[in-house]
This record gives sequence, C-alpha cells and structure tokens, in this order.
Amino acid sequence: MEGGLNMRIIVDHDVCTGHGRCAAVAPSVYSLDDAGFSAITETDVAPEHEAAARTGANNCPERAITIVD
Ligand code: F3S
Repeated sequence: MEGGLNMRIIVDHDVCTGHGRCAAVAPSVYSLDDAGFSAITETDVAPEHEAAARTGANNCPERAITIVD
C-alpha cells in the first residue's frame, strides 16, 4: 500500500432512520444530529479509524452507510 486515498464513508440520508447504532458502536467515526439521525453525509476516514468505520456500517440496520475503499 502506498500513497492510497483514505477510505470514505457515505451515509444515505434517504435511508437513515435514526437507529443511532453507528454512533453507539463507533463514536470515533459517527455522530448524530439533534434529531438522532446521522450527522455525517460523506467524509474521509483516517487509517486508524477504518475498523471502527466498518463496525459502524455493519451495525446499521438500514444499511444506510456505504464504505468506499
Ligand atoms: Fe442512521 Fe443507520 Fe446510524 S439508520 S443513525 S446510519 S445506525
């Protein structure tokens, strides 16, 4: 691996229904807005947070979170 782009996460706000699991299991990556929906739309993930990003995505019951490697 050399000079690769960071992983990105994309949250589909048409699909997020505010379960909040993402932020509960991976608070280093995910956060919620005042209404309890994902506060993230699209963001880079630092290498040290990649595992947490995947955990959060895997724990979304709506599969609203897409990981882009
Ligand atoms: Fe939304 Fe899924 Fe998180 S529904 S708040 S992206 S667990």
